[in-house]
Amino acid sequence: MAKDVIIALDFPTGKDTLEFLDLFTDEKPFVKIGMELFYSEGPDIVREIKKRGHRIFLDLKLHDIPNTVKSAMAVLAGLDVDMTNVHAAGTKMMMEWALEGLRSKGGEAMLLAVTQLTSTDQKRMNEEILIPGDIEDVVASYAKLAKEAGLQGVVCSPLEAGIVKKACGDDFFTVTPGIRFGGAMICDQSRITTPADAAKGGSDYIVMGRPITKAPDPVAAYKRAKKEFLGQ
Ligand code: C5P
Repeated sequence: MAKDVIIALDFPTGKDTLEFLDLFTDEKPFVKIGMELFYSEGPDIVREIKKRGHRIFLDLKLHDIPNTVKSAMAVLAGLDVDMTNVHAAGTKMMMEWALEGLRSKGGEAMLLAVTQLTSTDQKRMNEEILIPGDIEDVVASYAKLAKEAGLQGVVCSPLEAGIVKKACGDDFFTVTPGIRFGGAMICDQSRITTPADAAKGGSDYIVMGRPITKAPDPVAAYKRAKKEFLGQ
């Protein structure tokens, strides 16, 4: 799959989401469906958005015992999405079983592992999650574990995409949230950068939510993100 901008559809209802997507008349952006929308609308919203011709990253960040994640992935395989994910912290065994569950029902989605959430900074990781060391080393080591488990890439901070590529090779995908236009609000995210710097840093896909969904003109904001990230 080619590099792209993915819009995070963090809306509370299907109605809000479909109204937002109706704004895009001349192209079908790659979109991300996360917990809020999936838990409020269920699998039907995935089917509806798929039917409209969008590529979908189903971002449910599964993290449970291997058998439960395997069974859940086997169910998600039926939704025929393009990308989905688990937490690398669930262990290599959990990631292997997740992949097995997904493929056992013919799911062809790219399976990614979340390394450290982009809202987690060095201090929180050390002092609250009690993982010692540098966050970059932890991300690189989780990425290697994900690769060994057979996954195709990771979700990480755009600032760590280069580290992941160095640890796992160029063909191991990096999907990076935590993107803001130059000078924009940060909100709850740490470890962020701009679309252009994400491109320079080795991100394959950038995920942008609020800078696009809350923009006065979301289509213009999406086009700006594409131009800055892909240079087109
Ligand atoms: O609005 P914003 O651009 O901050 O949205 C980022 C999106 O990426 C959210 O949907 C969030 O759940 C998701 N995400 C993240 N950090 C990760 C994985 C996913 O921020 N490590």
